[in-house]
Amino acid sequence: MIIFENATVTIDGRKSLEQLNWEIESGDCWAIVGPNGSGKALLLESLSNNGKILTGVGKNLAKRIGIVSLHEQERLIVREAERDDSDLTDQIFSGTSVQELLDESSLDLKLQRDLTKSLRLDSLLYKGFRKLSTGESKKVLLAKALLGYPDLLLLEDPLEGFDQNSSAEVTALLEKNSLSTTQIYSVSRIKDIPSWTNNVICLDSHRVIRKFSCNNGEDAKRFLSSITRMGSKQVALPVPPEKRPIRLNNDNSLVNIKNGKVGYLGHTVFEDLDLVINPGSHWQITGPNGSGKTTLLNLITGDHPQSYVNDISIFGYSKGGGETIWDIKRHLGFISNALHWQHRLTASARNVIISGFFDSIGLYAKPSGHHVRIADAWLNLIGMEKQRNARFSELSFGYQRLLLICRAMVKHPSLLLLDEPCRGLDEANRELVLALVSRLCTDGNTTIVYVSHELEDIVPQITNHLDLGDLE
Ligand SMILES: Nc1ncnc2c1ncn2[C@@H]1O[C@H](COP(=O)(O)OP(=O)(O)O)[C@@H](O)[C@H]1O
Ligand SMILES: [Mg+2]
Repeated sequence: MIIFENATVTIDGRKSLEQLNWEIESGDCWAIVGPNGSGKALLLESLSNNGKILTGVGKNLAKRIGIVSLHEQERLIVREAERDDSDLTDQIFSGTSVQELLDESSLDLKLQRDLTKSLRLDSLLYKGFRKLSTGESKKVLLAKALLGYPDLLLLEDPLEGFDQNSSAEVTALLEKNSLSTTQIYSVSRIKDIPSWTNNVICLDSHRVIRKFSCNNGEDAKRFLSSITRMGSKQVALPVPPEKRPIRLNNDNSLVNIKNGKVGYLGHTVFEDLDLVINPGSHWQITGPNGSGKTTLLNLITGDHPQSYVNDISIFGYSKGGGETIWDIKRHLGFISNALHWQHRLTASARNVIISGFFDSIGLYAKPSGHHVRIADAWLNLIGMEKQRNARFSELSFGYQRLLLICRAMVKHPSLLLLDEPCRGLDEANRELVLALVSRLCTDGNTTIVYVSHELEDIVPQITNHLDLGDLE
């Protein structure tokens, strides 16, 4: 179906894959593996015909290609934002609905019904795409891709970010699809290699370092685990020039939410939520996709429109007290998928870390020598010193993610909110980030609220647990 011979491929002028030799037969299932920045996403994209062959041969006989990737998700998010901006009437743009998005791919009503059922999208059909939670929007992307009857399906970390039920549903759907479709997966974590994989391609520094076929995914995982060595990391955190004094509520808590409630037009996301976050007591938040984890964090930061109708005290400020969102942000560090999408920046890697001192998206103030030195120490810590002047927007998703995690941590904030921080990170970087979180937990200045689906991404110091799927 696809053949590359000594091919050098570029995508949008971004760094190419070099001397690529690869043959994909119709019906194959391949897994692309490799560390962050090795070129997995670029390789996947070069199969989508977005790539340009500079030298060598590249042929792709697939007729219909379906794609589920971060790039595709970003493309839809940006398209929604542009439609919103270009709407000059007085009407508020409510966004393209899930049903409209599915219709764009195919009007085959039977297939739409089947997919909506197996992915449990029924209750989302009339919602705007950009209102969806991360997991919900990923399911919509998958449904869209499958509605196009692809003969080639390209999937970037398709299971990441799903709760257990959704993960099982998506796995079943993809396994069934694999009987009739050539599938190529790019996976950040070895454990996410599908069990029906029959070939693996390993990348490092934009080159293929190994290719092998296997009986099944379990074989591939065993082999890859045996050649990937992991060690537990000891890390020392760069110290900010000044630590802002911790401001507390009257009851000595950092955050106090009483009877918290968020809902939309007859649909309640959660209610009767009482949460007290005391300094030094770290929290893990779990719950199924759409149960309100991101909503809860946005309520705390004041970024959610319903923050103001809730009884929330934070850092000694409470509703109507005249504080601005910036007063609150001074004490906060934050990372989420939405924040990542907002970072469509040409700023340098180093400046993105420094922007954490100024709570800005991009850097508009002149940094001091001290700021630069601290940012460089963080770059060192995450092994990105060579990329310090690289444009943020041209780095791979995993590298961007690491930088945003440093940005959130750089001032050792009183409260650090981490919403699925490890998305898109490879095994080694995930370990590194967990080690950083663990280190900050014991640093004394920072209290952490951590959202994660991954059972293996546990930080031992985080001992309080709120499950939004189980509020009663
Ligand atoms: N403006 C909105 N209108 C309607 N529903 C919304 C809106 N914003 C979010 N939601 C819904 O709220 C629910 C909770 O979303 P979220 O907090 O992102 O979930 P998660 O626990 O996966 O982080 C989801 O079902 C989402 O579709
Ligand atoms: Mg979420």
